[in-house]
Amino acid sequence: MTSVQVLSEPLELPCGAVMPNRLVKAPMEQVLGKFLGGKPNAELLRLYAAWAAARWGMIITGNVGVDRRYIGLMFDIVFPDPGKAAQQAAYREAFVRWARVCKGQAADDATEAVPASAGTRPLAIVQIVHCGRQSTRGAGRPPWVPAVAPSAVPMRTDGKQTLSDKLLFGTPKALTTDEVHDVIARFVRGAVFCAETGFDGIELHAAHGYLLSSFLSPLTNQRTDAYGGSAENRFRIVREIVEQTRERVPKSFAIGVKLNSSDYVQGGLTEEDALQNVRWLAESGQVDFVEVSGGTYEKPAMFAEADAPKQSARSHRREGFFASFAKRVHQVLPAGSKMRIIVTGGFRSRAGMAQAVRDDAIDGIGLGRPAALNPALPVQVLDAQIPDEDERASAPDWKVPPPPACMPKIPLVGAGWGSLWHSAQLHRTAYGERTAPDISLLHFLRGLKVFRD
Ligand SMILES: Cc1cc2nc3c(=O)[nH]c(=O)nc-3n(C[C@H](O)[C@H](O)[C@H](O)COP(=O)(O)O)c2cc1C
Repeated sequence: MTSVQVLSEPLELPCGAVMPNRLVKAPMEQVLGKFLGGKPNAELLRLYAAWAAARWGMIITGNVGVDRRYIGLMFDIVFPDPGKAAQQAAYREAFVRWARVCKGQAADDATEAVPASAGTRPLAIVQIVHCGRQSTRGAGRPPWVPAVAPSAVPMRTDGKQTLSDKLLFGTPKALTTDEVHDVIARFVRGAVFCAETGFDGIELHAAHGYLLSSFLSPLTNQRTDAYGGSAENRFRIVREIVEQTRERVPKSFAIGVKLNSSDYVQGGLTEEDALQNVRWLAESGQVDFVEVSGGTYEKPAMFAEADAPKQSARSHRREGFFASFAKRVHQVLPAGSKMRIIVTGGFRSRAGMAQAVRDDAIDGIGLGRPAALNPALPVQVLDAQIPDEDERASAPDWKVPPPPACMPKIPLVGAGWGSLWHSAQLHRTAYGERTAPDISLLHFLRGLKVFRD
């Protein structure tokens, strides 16, 4: 089979939803919500319309917060607060419109969407998050109120708690067992909200050091109740969210989980732990897909610089930061498991993506930064008329400019700058402009929405 044929093959999830091809728009925080957390708005919809028109097999949204007190940046999309009827109604309407757009419809087209099982449109999946100890100071709460985490373990971005860790994050407060139950209920409510507003599924964000990921890690989870201690106990919060969500959503609704293959910090989650977590999810029989990533704010492996497509072709290096882990995953899945494995990070060329599907048995290829630079990437990658060697068959060959001199020279800020620069590209599409490699920090700041949803 040619690379285009490999990537164009539809993929059925256990819930019956069908991805029309193997290309997944990876979750990217859009930073387009209102200050301190807002609902989907016109700019967000314009961005998703661009992706939906471009034949992505699955569109995973940027993370949506289950608790606006603990968001990542100050401009995230969040779920409505429990018990606020007017807010609930306004958010419900906004999410309905967002779901339609992700599925390729107009926002106010109330006709029933083509079913997810038809395999003719992108699957619309919402990523759900609680940022835990990585919720920056003041992101949803007064700056002196600490974030929450499994245990009161401060961020240590350089192997120790630096001044910037203290200023940006502080030391989190350990959740009580009752508060853990509240977090579980919030995730389940968020998932049900997505099902009710027309999305095809959800993805729990249990990677990159956010709250669920920090429960899985022995370094950040030092609890002595049922949610800490053994690997099984550390996994319990994810298991309970999955089980309780499955009980409350239709069988046809997809549940996915984004997991780290490793935290890449001493004492953190290892590959062996990660394989065990994947095995447990597969054994539950309730999960449709796992998206494999890796790293945390303390060691941002997910934001590593990938080889440019031409470079990787020349060096014959395998693409995909976590592809070798995905190969190991297949060895531990129970026989007959239909849980699908998506891998995100570092894929840049059509040939490299197809090789990963063929040789590493990866089911779906997640693309983050390339989807920010070129929202219509699948149109070219899946075009059989364009040869593999043609640069149009690959992600755009770009380089993030160095951070402005005023930014502190630490790895977290370096990764954060790269992320902001890509968010600025998302802003350009959201505001109806073409993406452009030569934009500045000012461009990102201009895209922020302080007062209006
Ligand atoms: C601007 C930006 C925002 C991101 N936001 C999220 C997010 O909300 N959730 C998530 O799981 N990953 C997020 N990521 C990470 C991507 O999903 C992906 O794992 C990472 O970019 C590596 O893939 P790539 O090499 O294809 O870009 C973000 C990445 C970027 C560039």
